[in-house]
Amino acid sequence: MNVTLSAARANGKVNLHLGVGEVRGDGYHELSTVFMAVDRTETVTLIPEPDAQVTSGVVAGMNTTCHVRVPDEDLDTPKNLAWRAVNAICDGAHVPPVRIEVDKTIPVAGGMAGGSADAAAAIKAAVGYMSQHGFEVPAERVQEIAAELGADVPFALMGGIALGTDRGDALVPMMGRGQYWFAFLNPRVGLSTGAVFEKLDEMRFNDVSLVPHMDTTLLSRALLSGDPVQVGAVMHNDLQAAAVALHPRLKALIRDAEMAGAIRAMVSGSGPTVAALCPDRETAQTVVEEITRSGAVEGFVTHGPAAGAMLL
Ligand code: C5P
Repeated sequence: MNVTLSAARANGKVNLHLGVGEVRGDGYHELSTVFMAVDRTETVTLIPEPDAQVTSGVVAGMNTTCHVRVPDEDLDTPKNLAWRAVNAICDGAHVPPVRIEVDKTIPVAGGMAGGSADAAAAIKAAVGYMSQHGFEVPAERVQEIAAELGADVPFALMGGIALGTDRGDALVPMMGRGQYWFAFLNPRVGLSTGAVFEKLDEMRFNDVSLVPHMDTTLLSRALLSGDPVQVGAVMHNDLQAAAVALHPRLKALIRDAEMAGAIRAMVSGSGPTVAALCPDRETAQTVVEEITRSGAVEGFVTHGPAAGAMLL
């Protein structure tokens, strides 16, 4: 029997623009978002365990190693997106059970789509594993499974820069020039994506100024310039007000990152990670050093655009 392992990697993301529209019948919100993949990698390895007993699916167990803050909750459960992704891709095929190993460098519940990157890498690894056993998974089925697992998973598969509409999962690639350097800063807590969307709905009910920003024209033009100053001037996140309301210390973190040299600091996705766009790598390094000095915030430097999920 073939016991070759299968491994894949996928990157995190930042939303350079995140416009949130009306809540829909399915509980999701209409989005108009510009994703940029950043070079911060999750690695997923499937290790065949031919003798393992599994009651349903092919996953015999899971083991996550965190190179960032370890969350309080147990990640290694059947609810994990990577676990669900492998079972969905291998559904119905007679392949040996596997154990999943995940190497995490993206903060958990941080607004950088780390869980979605795990799902995307797990999908690629599982497609590779199936192929080793003579099963081809059609590309349309892969896309379907990605969108079922979560709104950010299709972009984690694709990478680069893209405009996302509908739930953020209807993607069109966007043109961009240059490399953009970021300091990512996480106040060592997580925020639930659903809770942040709900908070925005509640705040909009009482504050008519919190209108949806769905137009991405200025940002798409700025991305063609390759100039971080132009991009920084038009970055926007409708969820920022809600993330700051749930975690008020973010306001000072954003201000401090800009004081330390960032062109523009903004909540990444639903937060609480702050993405601080910097003129260059050195400035991003200085911002990380200054902001993380007290130990209350975890931070790292990275750049985008980066690649989508790939088999190793
Ligand atoms: O799709 P995913 O599981 O990542 O989304 C987590 C939660 O974020 C959803 O259950 C929903 O409450 C919220 N969400 C939303 N609109 C979107 C994407 C996510 O309301 N377009």
